[in-house]
Amino acid sequence: MSESLYFTAAANDRAARYAELLPQLKALLENEKDAIVLYANTAAALKEAFGFFWVGFYRVVDNQLVLGPFQGPIACNRIQKGRGVCGKAWEMNQTIIVANVDEFPGHIACSSESKSEIVLPVYNRAKEFIGVLDVDSDSYNDFSNIDEAGLSAILAFISENINA
Ligand code: SME
Repeated sequence: MSESLYFTAAANDRAARYAELLPQLKALLENEKDAIVLYANTAAALKEAFGFFWVGFYRVVDNQLVLGPFQGPIACNRIQKGRGVCGKAWEMNQTIIVANVDEFPGHIACSSESKSEIVLPVYNRAKEFIGVLDVDSDSYNDFSNIDEAGLSAILAFISENINA
């Protein structure tokens, strides 16, 4: 296993960085099935690759989203279905990109420094919804379909492998 991630693309060239990150993450997590390991190293790798303000996972436990492995400031422990961006992504079973969190009805302000975010559903191998990946930025309008594509590719890899 390589001990560190290696990038040649500029930090602000998201598409190129996602393309460089995916094979390294696959190598790092090869044959790994444990959810905590997959989530923890994915969050760490995304933080290292992009310097996101907050990146982490919430898992469905007892019909709530419960905080999982993450990188960044402390966060809400539990989120109800339909609440905030994460709860909406669960309710709608789809990716949500919010350019300005102040304009999102019911946004959960875990941190006032969070300005924009992207939340993607996480599925297991059986295509059941098992949680979300939440990435928050301290800049407005920081996420696009480039992030959606890059993060979806990472989550597809997790879905194939996760024991959940
Ligand atoms: N931004 C999320 C809440 C979780 S955190 O910010 C880490 C939301 O509104 O769903």
